[in-house]
Amino acid sequence: MVYNQSVAVKTPLQQKNILLGVTGSIACYKAADLASKLTQAGAQVDVLLTQAAQQFVTPLTFQSVTGRRAYTDVDLWGSEAHVLHIGLGKTADLLLIAPASANTLAKLANGIADNLLAVTALAATCPILVAPAMDGGMYTHPATQANLAVLRQRGVIVVGPVEGHLASGMSGVGRMVEPVELLGHARRVLGRSGSLAGRRLVVTAGGTQEPIDPVRAISNRSSGKQGFALAQAAIDLGAKVTLIAGVTSLDTPVGALRVDVRTAKEMQEAVLAALPQADGLIMAAAVADFRPAAPEVHKIKKEGGVPQIRLEPTPDILAAVARYKIETGWQGCTVGFAAESRQLLENARQKLQAKKLDLIAANDISASDAGFAVDTNRIVLLYPEGRVEELPLMNKAEVAAVLLERLAAIIAEVPRNTA
Ligand code: CTP
Repeated sequence: MVYNQSVAVKTPLQQKNILLGVTGSIACYKAADLASKLTQAGAQVDVLLTQAAQQFVTPLTFQSVTGRRAYTDVDLWGSEAHVLHIGLGKTADLLLIAPASANTLAKLANGIADNLLAVTALAATCPILVAPAMDGGMYTHPATQANLAVLRQRGVIVVGPVEGHLASGMSGVGRMVEPVELLGHARRVLGRSGSLAGRRLVVTAGGTQEPIDPVRAISNRSSGKQGFALAQAAIDLGAKVTLIAGVTSLDTPVGALRVDVRTAKEMQEAVLAALPQADGLIMAAAVADFRPAAPEVHKIKKEGGVPQIRLEPTPDILAAVARYKIETGWQGCTVGFAAESRQLLENARQKLQAKKLDLIAANDISASDAGFAVDTNRIVLLYPEGRVEELPLMNKAEVAAVLLERLAAIIAEVPRNTA
């Protein structure tokens, strides 16, 4: 049976109510970028500025990027009076305070509620994430450290600060984490009770490189984009992800534990090391099938003439995982990809059976808009019982979200791995 269906992909940020508290720090200008990014990701962002924040930026800055009213202390005593902070606090899915000054952290740690943001934080029942930003000495001061310890103990998620150039002109730990990374943290926190909560997944991505000599290697055109998107989609559903990455320059999705590998052999070792604790494996990596049998220790020189390079097969990682399943009784789900330039379904079905997979995503790499090194993909999902599901051309994040949804349904039947 073949059927087409259109898909609507949701990320954890979409249609979420996010309260963005902005406090007095020069990093306020980055908070406007963060508000913009959160809004573009589909969240409804209500910004609360402290008086000190307004020395750096205006409510209008935030209103212009969120399309919603930004609140200040005037609103605490305004027409909505006592209900505003309760309303904001109770309806929020996440309170994100970025930048969080030493003063605001001290207030939160001590339950002081003398401005709209602080009083709203007391009323909030949602997760709270703070991104401290201050001078290095203020951050390392025992008072700030004690306040952060109290907040962490209470379940507040503290992200950063990081090391770098500070407003004082000095270098040190005190810079706010960049907006794009804070967006990732917000996404992770909002996704953590998704359908893969408490599950651990191993995702491989990118191409492997097989050395010919110290400077040359056999590789492939894989960008790693699909695998990284799968890791992000798994985090979006609450999974803990080990991302085993071949050669790629992509940024690690926030929340993923990344293991960098180079060769097929290294990838196999990393996969087999992570598998015992995992509930599933997605092999999106483009693993080299052949490698030089005897890589040269020294650089091959021209004067030696055209080299003859003898190849040997690399380990088939999914085949090793299939054996591991039989030998150990490991019950996790395995998902493979089939990159084909002809006889897509026949070849994919053969791989599904040979590698004992729970699902295979077949993609026709001869199409210019799908597969290697482009942002879109068109895949067909094949299931062991014979079902075939054709997905339309989508971007790789959408493909990943659909695939993870399908995997979550399969994994729901599998007992949790408690190892
Ligand atoms: N794979 C693997 N180990 C390898 C090669 C591939 O685990 N040495 C995995 C890939 O990550 C993918 C699936 O097997 O999930 C199919 O990979 P593909 O390259 O399409 O097929 P191969 O098994 O390598 O067979 P062929 O190259 O002959 O099509």
